[in-house]
Amino acid sequence: MKHLILFGPPGSGKGTQAKQLEEKFEMVHISTGDLFRYEIGNETPLGLKAKSFIDAGELVPDEVTIGMLQNKVNMHPEAKGFIFDGFPRTIPQAEALDLFLEGRGECINGLIALKVDDEEIVQRLLERGKTSGRADDSNEAVIRNRIDVYKEQTSPVYDFYDEKNVSQEIEGVGSIEAIFERLSTAIEAL
Ligand code: C5P
Ligand code: MG
Repeated sequence: MKHLILFGPPGSGKGTQAKQLEEKFEMVHISTGDLFRYEIGNETPLGLKAKSFIDAGELVPDEVTIGMLQNKVNMHPEAKGFIFDGFPRTIPQAEALDLFLEGRGECINGLIALKVDDEEIVQRLLERGKTSGRADDSNEAVIRNRIDVYKEQTSPVYDFYDEKNVSQEIEGVGSIEAIFERLSTAIEAL
């Protein structure tokens, strides 16, 4: 059982790559952002709670996100491994994930961060916002806030796993195919 965290700022290509990686490596892709958007679309209590945070580019409280993630993992007893996309985004989320996996006799085998600079991200997300229908992709101030939140609250997660010797960074700019090749090579080596 191998578990991977696909890491990087918003718009770094995590979702795009994870969709292809899940097929190639027969892993289950879990995007917490997609789970939230599903809940919001269905106007569930969880979705209603999450919506104001997401629209502002802030993080949903840890206990909500952690509970939702664990439920999703538990729905896949057949999984050979998970690709976590957009989670963990805080140190408490990382600690909770490790404890949860430890309870299953498992761990995070690798964290791969896609490196993309801020201005490229802003341009990518504004472009995505034209078709994604995501309020948080359409407003530059919200996008910049998401980048700040990433730097302040999320980037420490890289160091958290670096201390366990499982973090690595790869270049996230280039063609989708080229980045997929880089990621595949890194995952095969895990
Ligand atoms: O991962 P993605 O960029 O799709 O997430 C969209 C939004 O969902 C984030 O900007 C944040 O508001 C919320 N989110 C969160 N905690 C996570 C994942 C997503 O608060 N672990
Ligand atoms: Mg995504």
